[in-house]
Amino acid sequence: TWQVLPGADDRASQEAIAEAARLLSGGGVVAFPTETVYGLGADARQTSAVEQVFAAKGRPSDNPLIVHIADESQLEGLVMPVGDTERALMRRFWPGPLTIVMPAVPGAVSPRVTAGLDTVAVRMPQHEVALRLIAAANCPVAAPSANRSGRPSPTLAEHVREDLDGRIDGLVDGGPTGVGLESTVVMTEGPGVVRILRPGGITAEQLREVVPTVLLDETLAGLDMASSDQVAEAHKEAAASEQAGAAPRSPGMKYAHYAPRGTMLLVSGKAEAVRDYIQREVAAAMARGEVTGVLTYEEHQNYFTADEVVVCGSLEKLETAAQGLYAALREFDVRGVQSIWAEACPSDGIGLALMNRLAKAAANQIVYV
Ligand code: TXA
Ligand code: MG
Repeated sequence: TWQVLPGADDRASQEAIAEAARLLSGGGVVAFPTETVYGLGADARQTSAVEQVFAAKGRPSDNPLIVHIADESQLEGLVMPVGDTERALMRRFWPGPLTIVMPAVPGAVSPRVTAGLDTVAVRMPQHEVALRLIAAANCPVAAPSANRSGRPSPTLAEHVREDLDGRIDGLVDGGPTGVGLESTVVMTEGPGVVRILRPGGITAEQLREVVPTVLLDETLAGLDMASSDQVAEAHKEAAASEQAGAAPRSPGMKYAHYAPRGTMLLVSGKAEAVRDYIQREVAAAMARGEVTGVLTYEEHQNYFTADEVVVCGSLEKLETAAQGLYAALREFDVRGVQSIWAEACPSDGIGLALMNRLAKAAANQIVYV
């Protein structure tokens, strides 16, 4: 582990970045900070290196990886000529938490990166340490989140150590990440039309400022309601569409994800109804001798009595909830919580990504009260 905080440019930090870059060039796998979550990087052109990423994470091989670049010049030879819509997205959101799926130049990266698809997902992270590392390695860096597959993504170097200690060649500790949830993954469907495959750090509202038509993947349908009155109804539809087995276009979206070890239920509805439901269920579970947990927000923390009440930020500032979500989910594991109830949040802005991750963490067990 080397510590390189953003802004640090002393001798030791320079040497750490150079050493991590040498490991990447030599076919090693190195975890590093980005503005979203920590990534586990490998030279995207080296199949054996990419295979080590899958092995370290225990990740299914049909789930393709995001390729990280430090400069737009790296697009050359990686993707087919970039269209106007993609170009506009890059201008506005790169560097930043937006991943764009584009037609790949055949053979540009290992087929293990794209899982055999003819497209490749690319992003330029908005994190000085990540950008310095990618530039020094001078290669496209394939990097999924640096967690064991199925676990919450790491927002601290400590989380990477928890999951991957002894399984990777190095870890650059850059302190806490910023956004706390992964990048938004999009794909264009013709000029001026973009589809969100995975909601994330760039919101649908922000995309709409640049691209006239922003669609949601079928598996997310109904989650983009701004009014909290409509939310529960919308979530119901989303759950139904997911049960009907609509095939997700972003392959990773079909896996159980971000899950704490205990069982989790996501509870959606009006605040009082949610509170009453959760308190009833927690009391019953405690009576059965279970270790109980509630995931809630600052404004509601006094609503609940459970073995562990974990607050993951403020409903008034959902960005703080996004930052705190994964650490909160890990907290339940540290405390050995067996049964968890999580409060839903409104799904406008970053709330769409939050609700998506909460639903995944709950293995889509959602109740509407
Ligand atoms: O914020 C992030 O994106 C983080 C940091 C480390 O950059 N990375 C990340 O990677 O979340 P990962 O591997 O955990 O998620 C990659 C997502 C998956 O949902 C995957 O299915 C999708 O991107 N994806 C990758 N390549 C794709 C492609 N060619 N077509 C469609 N979806 C793709
Ligand atoms: Mg991941």
